[in-house]
Amino acid sequence: MQMTRVLFVCLGNICRSPTADGIFRQLVMRENLNQKILVDSAGTGGWHIGKAPDSRTVAAAYQRGYDLSILRARQVNVQDFAEFDYVLAMDKSNLSDLQRMKPSSYTGHLGLFLEFGSRGDYREVPDPYYGSNDGFELVLDLVEDAAQGLLNHIRKSPY
Ligand code: 4NP
Repeated sequence: MQMTRVLFVCLGNICRSPTADGIFRQLVMRENLNQKILVDSAGTGGWHIGKAPDSRTVAAAYQRGYDLSILRARQVNVQDFAEFDYVLAMDKSNLSDLQRMKPSSYTGHLGLFLEFGSRGDYREVPDPYYGSNDGFELVLDLVEDAAQGLLNHIRKSPY
């Protein structure tokens, strides 16, 4: 069976990309597509390898019904381009790091996650790490919207 593999990438892999991972994973499960779509997340940086997501991220997501507590941070690497059809960056800085790492032979989709969103006001998911609780709610709002758009897109054009 053909699988579509999706990797979400942010800086630390403890706030934004685990949120995208957990929300998109839940959407995939709800639609009974877990045999068809594989979901993972990683960070461009290595500071938090092996750690659970940030406690503020876990708490905010839990309030909306997502359990992120089992996720563990890892660092993105060049092999990920061999394994993932979609590599989706949370912001332009993550994207430029990934563009530098990307093998020239990569035929998948490397881009900004919010390209799949319906909101015109944000092209990037802002880093909430040094901010207030509002930032974590905004991450959830942006990710919920773009996750639905991504699923609709993959349904129309699976790899
Ligand atoms: P994330 O947030 O990229 O959404 O996981 C961050 C987490 C940690 C750091 C930066 C951003 N940090 O500098 O440790």
